[in-house]
Amino acid sequence: MPTITLPVDEHSPDSEAIRLAAERLRAGGLVAFPTETVYGLGANALDPAAVHRIFEAKGRPASDPLIVHLYDLAWLPRVAQPGGPLAAILAEAFWPGPLTLVLPRQPDVPLAVTAGRDTVAVRVPSHPVARALLLAAGLPIAAPSANRFARPSPTTARHVLDDLDGRVDVVLDSGPVAIGVESTIVDLTCEPPALLRPGGAPPEALRRLLPDLILRADYLAVERGEAAPAPGMFLKHYSPRARVRLFSGPRAAVLQRMRVIASSESGVGILAVDEDVDALAGLPARFARLGPQSDPQGVARRLFAGLRDLDSAGAGQILARAPERDGLSLAIWDRLFRAAEGRIEEVDET
Ligand code: TXA
Ligand code: MG
Repeated sequence: MPTITLPVDEHSPDSEAIRLAAERLRAGGLVAFPTETVYGLGANALDPAAVHRIFEAKGRPASDPLIVHLYDLAWLPRVAQPGGPLAAILAEAFWPGPLTLVLPRQPDVPLAVTAGRDTVAVRVPSHPVARALLLAAGLPIAAPSANRFARPSPTTARHVLDDLDGRVDVVLDSGPVAIGVESTIVDLTCEPPALLRPGGAPPEALRRLLPDLILRADYLAVERGEAAPAPGMFLKHYSPRARVRLFSGPRAAVLQRMRVIASSESGVGILAVDEDVDALAGLPARFARLGPQSDPQGVARRLFAGLRDLDSAGAGQILARAPERDGLSLAIWDRLFRAAEGRIEEVDET
């Protein structure tokens, strides 16, 4: 099936394109659309056959549940049971925006959406095109990131087409997204509430409202071989084709290690903040610049495109230095850690 790409003005999306895309959704089709975090691959969340097409198009295992997108809080009862006072407080503070809440499932939601669970993940996106599409379709939209399974999430329509051309009916193109990493996921069905995935909403902002929020330590347990990954926590996630190597330790020591690798091996790509790229200038490596280290928003926005660029340039391995783990940088750290399949190479002071 040929994919139709429709340009949409982010700032006034009330166009023919939105109407056409909404029609495709109501007819059971797949529509890729921009959100403020990454592009999503949408289908009618209440239509099991349409939802099934998402899994097929992505090559995604049926065990990995989807996020349901809503126009506003008033739509919540269509897909979730009341989440108690915490859900209302968080929704008030963060919606529309990059926060996903896991709540008890409303029985009308097909089990394909939730991978058989009694809980459902929901969010209200802030991107004007996503909102216009939700309103025009009048349907809750199930949408994972619009990439093939285990590829970096798409931050442009080009990325979507690189992965899904011919597998999706319509792509709404309104240019690069603003945040660049996926939403933060908080599970409110457990006690205490748990951060399942760091993302666009920084944990510090959540902790102001949820002081007992715990960071689910799955990564560490998975790394030690003590636990199987929870849904969506597959460590082989966000992986480009190249092998990603993540280094942590004093900056000078990490850069020195990168120099040694890039000078002795071929096909090296380096994904780094501008300061590091400048310090490594002249090395026989291909660089993807993430912008200044002082601008984590910019780094997040460029992260997935950087992985994809180095990949399509044919890099055999991609070297990256682990960022701090606070604020938005925790999400950046998380995506690099997963791209590196859960391995970190510690470098000591030289
Ligand atoms: O920013 C985002 O969240 C993007 C945009 C398109 O909204 N969507 C996104 O979806 O990142 P996806 O499918 O790539 O990630 C969804 C993840 C799953 O992998 C899983 O970790 C979690 O959400 N999830 C979904 N439903 C869940 C549930 N009922 N319980 C626990 N985790 C759930
Ligand atoms: Mg994804």
